[in-house]
Amino acid sequence: MDAARERGVERLAESLRSAERIAVLTGAGFSAESGVPTFRDAMTGMWAKFDPLRLATPEAFAADPETVTRWYDWRRELLASCKPNPGHAALAELERWSRSRGSRLTVLTQNVDGLHHAAGGEDVVELHGSLRVWRCTKTGREVADPPFPFNEYPPRSQWGGLLRPGVVWFGEMLPPDAVEAAEEALATCDLFISAGTSAEVHPAAGFAQRAAARGAATAEINRDPTPISGLVDVSIRGMTGQVLPRLLELATAD
Ligand code: OAD
Repeated sequence: MDAARERGVERLAESLRSAERIAVLTGAGFSAESGVPTFRDAMTGMWAKFDPLRLATPEAFAADPETVTRWYDWRRELLASCKPNPGHAALAELERWSRSRGSRLTVLTQNVDGLHHAAGGEDVVELHGSLRVWRCTKTGREVADPPFPFNEYPPRSQWGGLLRPGVVWFGEMLPPDAVEAAEEALATCDLFISAGTSAEVHPAAGFAQRAAARGAATAEINRDPTPISGLVDVSIRGMTGQVLPRLLELATAD
């Protein structure tokens, strides 16, 4: 690890040791080392190959539910071979460590892949929903882990409505319970960390600024610079799968 990065990780480890309420925002970069594609990377990102307006909006689903469903099926299939990476494991461990010393760490994730939970994370808020939970468009009832592939396309629920993925599409509201949990974490945290997100999609994009305005310490861990890099107290340039395990090591050292 280069010297500047190591110094950043040391500073953040110090903040973690004194923090009582920690909020960690994660994005697609956090799962990149698990093999899940990001969205905005120029060559490999999902939005470089697919048009979000044709796949991730309520209008796209209304116009062509089969294509939209098959795209989410492709993502479910991809995910079936992805496992949590060392970043997920270290963050789940930091959550347990925080709990053991009477503090609390909440993960606010924009990811729909369930990998924080798969790594053992418990205090995890899925801001953009989940690829594993689908919803009947007629009754609003949820169906967990529906069969893959579906028997028919577009698939219907047992209540007769079309089944849609339980993710948040562009133009939709975030799940109210997730918003409430995120608001609580943001209103009370004394340390906010943004990790593996381009910090371009709202409302998550504004979280660092809001935490800083309240006087919380702020940090970013990202492979590339982002719009919040200049705003945070500690900006660590690196891969979350490498930085998080080192952070865990330093924060929890006796
Ligand atoms: P993006 O694809 O916009 O950004 C991923 C960020 O992670 C970029 O800044 C990369 O530089 C960085 N990155 C990539 N690999 C990394 C690694 N191994 N370690 C650390 N950083 C890494 O993804 P998000 O910020 O999650 O929304 O995008 C936010 C939302 O936009 C998504 O939830 C999705 C998308 O459109 C919806 O679909 C509604």
